[in-house]
Amino acid sequence: MALPMASTPTLSKVCLTVLFLFLSISSSAISHGLNHNPANASYLHSNAQKLIRSLNLFPEESINIIEDDHAGFVPGQIVEKKFSFLGRSGPPVENLGHHAGYYSLPHSKAARMFFFFFESRKSTDDPVVIWLTGGPGCGSELALFYENGPFHITNNLSLTWNDYGWDQASNIIFVDQPTGTGFSYSSDDSDIRHDEAGVSNDLYDFLQEFFKTHPDFVKNDFYIFGESYGGHYVPALASRVNQGNKQNQTLHINLKGFAIGNGLTDPAIQYQAYPDFAFDNRIITQAEYDNVSMLIPDCEQATKTCETQGGNNCTDALYSCYKIFQRILNFTDNINYYDIRKKCEGPMCYNFTNVERLLNMQKVKSALGVSDDLGYALCSLDVRFAMMEDWMKNLEVGIPDLLEEGMKVLVYAGEEDLICNWLGNSRWVEAMQWSGQKAFQISPTGKFVVDGAEAGSLNSYGPLTFLKVHGAGHMVPMDQPKAALQMMTSWMGGKLNASSLQSFSHRLKPRPLIVFFILFLYHIITDQSLRS
Ligand SMILES: *[C@@H]1O[C@H](CO)[C@@H](O)[C@H](O)[C@H]1NC(C)=O
Ligand SMILES: *[C@@H]1O[C@H](CO)[C@@H](O)[C@H](O)[C@H]1NC(C)=O
Ligand SMILES: *[C@@H]1O[C@H](CO)[C@@H](O)[C@H](O)[C@H]1NC(C)=O
Ligand SMILES: *[C@@H]1O[C@H](CO)[C@@H](O)[C@H](O)[C@H]1NC(C)=O
Ligand SMILES: *[C@@H]1O[C@H](CO)[C@@H](O)[C@H](O)[C@H]1NC(C)=O
Ligand SMILES: *[C@@H]1O[C@H](CO)[C@@H](O)[C@H](O)[C@H]1NC(C)=O
Ligand SMILES: *[C@@H]1O[C@H](CO)[C@@H](O)[C@H](O)[C@H]1NC(C)=O
Ligand SMILES: *[C@@H]1O[C@H](CO)[C@@H](O)[C@H](O)[C@H]1NC(C)=O
Repeated sequence: MALPMASTPTLSKVCLTVLFLFLSISSSAISHGLNHNPANASYLHSNAQKLIRSLNLFPEESINIIEDDHAGFVPGQIVEKKFSFLGRSGPPVENLGHHAGYYSLPHSKAARMFFFFFESRKSTDDPVVIWLTGGPGCGSELALFYENGPFHITNNLSLTWNDYGWDQASNIIFVDQPTGTGFSYSSDDSDIRHDEAGVSNDLYDFLQEFFKTHPDFVKNDFYIFGESYGGHYVPALASRVNQGNKQNQTLHINLKGFAIGNGLTDPAIQYQAYPDFAFDNRIITQAEYDNVSMLIPDCEQATKTCETQGGNNCTDALYSCYKIFQRILNFTDNINYYDIRKKCEGPMCYNFTNVERLLNMQKVKSALGVSDDLGYALCSLDVRFAMMEDWMKNLEVGIPDLLEEGMKVLVYAGEEDLICNWLGNSRWVEAMQWSGQKAFQISPTGKFVVDGAEAGSLNSYGPLTFLKVHGAGHMVPMDQPKAALQMMTSWMGGKLNASSLQSFSHRLKPRPLIVFFILFLYHIITDQSLRS
């Protein structure tokens, strides 16, 4: 089968395997650590690295490092171009408002952050949204092409419009971050980030320059959304923006709220929720529950040490707590830990190879202004390892201050996800101490109605909303695209709360119709596909 990847035949395999190791660290790397050594995280790290190197699966530099690229690095500058993925039959490029670009991070030696920006299909007055995919180290293209971006990828690597893309209701930015993720790169290892301060400063710098480059959008409402490890990034960035706004020295960013989907925010609480979630959902037995629960005290203690002492203690805490998750998986029969209704099929429980095939095509890269030298891997293992001491940090701590200032906060979770399950999320949200805590705890649970049917349940008080989404795993916009779009529009419109639910299903304006499910073949791949 002659795929358009022919010029780099091993690349998709490389990427696939990286992903495999990356996402199934629980089942490979960590269990190796446990088997051979009652070891620590550095053992785990070097072990995983050795495994990768010995199989020769990594490109030369697994973090995107390009040598001798200092020339042309202008700190603080955005270089952006309009692009069109769509063929000649589509709307003219200039009408689409689709941008891709690089931002040269000012607080770095030579780091460049890649981003997509899609203007709203409906109105440029819609809010501006930045989306942060987790990992840490997974590119935002995961969301762009499989969840809430304007397009989906077909198996022959053409694109179809996503009727429920969030560009139906927002001007949406997808960034590859932290440095080394996706198409973002540096020529200097020291640009790799290790904590939320580094990550959120880079994003803040980016937003400043983004709004200078797109001044028409400064007045719009602005929201931060993220998923999974975004449970760390999102509150950190919200606090950073808020702090910047208060200092009055930089451009004011019109931040109205932030949302976390199936996130990891308060690890101490969330790791302890695993056995309960697993038992409630009958993926483990009572005896297994009792067994796995015995791992909790160590995890609890290690997390406290991480909180008080930091540093290495935090990788140790991760190591200790991860066993809980790992043992649950051991007790199950190859469950998909992103969606317990499913089996884990294929190396990473899902098959996301199409996005890597697509983004490794030279014509796609050149359309996006990406260097031919850069390989695209959906997730970077090294970026992930660089963030290990950040993993067990509690990011809930900054949220109460933001709530007190009236910042809207949405925490949502697909109820079929194990890895960042709704129960753990619900628990930290309830345990959060702020002036509305009691009122939130006793708030009536309302129905989230989509198309006249219950699509979820929610609690809300004041600026805080918690939503559990039915029939969805870790990636809510992938599993419930319509409900997800309705969730984000309603919430941004201030209408996602228990008291307004009665009229909920009638309030929504119909989406502007994409009348036909238009299929556009990539002009950039036409010749290859026809040949194959
Ligand atoms: C972790 O394990 C490695 C190899 O087993 C060892 O060399 C290192 O000293 C250990 N580090 C700590 C902090 O215990
Ligand atoms: C690509 O796949 C879509 C359906 O997924 C099909 O409609 C289209 O004809 C295919 N294009 C080519 C060139 O095979
Ligand atoms: C920023 O501006 C606001 C309103 O003008 C003012 O109340 C506040 O004190 C200023 N903060 C700083 C740090 O200058
Ligand atoms: C818990 O389960 C593991 C894996 O089956 C087993 O090795 C261990 O002995 C069990 N612990 C107890 C206390 O039963
Ligand atoms: C915590 O970290 C400090 C500094 O890295 C180290 O000296 C100490 O041994 C660690 N404590 C534990 C319990 O690992
Ligand atoms: C998971 O299973 C593997 C293989 O049986 C075992 O070596 C490992 O210790 C188990 N992990 C936990 C946390 O129980
Ligand atoms: C993933 O999907 C691609 C495209 O449909 C297919 O070629 C490939 O065989 C699949 N991989 C696995 C492991 O199922
Ligand atoms: C629900 O949203 C409506 C509309 O924004 C608002 O007026 C009302 O106060 C909210 N109710 C609660 C309980 O927050």
